[in-house]
Amino acid sequence: MRADGRGRFITFEGGEGAGKSTQLARLAESLRAGGLDVVTTREPGGSKGAEDIRALLVQGDVERWDATTEALLHTAARRDHLVKTVWPALDRGAWVLCDRFADSTLAYQGYGHGLAIETIEALTRLAVGAFTPDLTLVLDLPVDQGLRRAGGRGGAEDRYERMDSAFHDRLRQGFLVIARAHPERCAVIDAAGDPDSVHAAIRASVAGRLGIPR
Ligand code: TMP
Repeated sequence: MRADGRGRFITFEGGEGAGKSTQLARLAESLRAGGLDVVTTREPGGSKGAEDIRALLVQGDVERWDATTEALLHTAARRDHLVKTVWPALDRGAWVLCDRFADSTLAYQGYGHGLAIETIEALTRLAVGAFTPDLTLVLDLPVDQGLRRAGGRGGAEDRYERMDSAFHDRLRQGFLVIARAHPERCAVIDAAGDPDSVHAAIRASVAGRLGIPR
């Protein structure tokens, strides 16, 4: 718990198949082993209402929504998730590990689909206010490697995976631009290695930035 009584908010970002979910679970396990109260969650989703919205976003035709509608749906889901799940957990001192957050809207709907960055920033301000993650881990790897990994997962939630590879290239570059613009908050993690070495890099980054024992 922080000196101010609030927990910490750590977000995992990156393209498809970067290994965010696996790495998030491993970090949660290691922080819990150190005695911390840890909540794991995801976007879109992480609360009842946001999970309902998630189904609208990750299933169905690629062309189902235009970029603005999509950004509004993600932003509405985010607001519900913050109010119902994230903020209460932080208030009781938990460490909240979140699979994707506002940077994904900038990368996917902004850099990927071409919506104006200022529009997305305005939506985020509306839903999130001045709240930001304490640390954002950007898991970076080549697009073809990520899509191969993601394709192996199967399942119905593949609407974004079916978008073309130029889209995925734009969002990889978008995440790197975001990380360069916010070096105090973001750490880029090379996600191309084996899961153990990626986990070690994440642990080192969390330890260095947020002061937990290695
Ligand atoms: P996931 O596969 O990492 O669970 O995320 C679901 C999909 O939603 C993923 O393809 C990325 C996409 N997404 C956006 O396009 N914008 C957003 O703001 C978020 C949070 C996710």
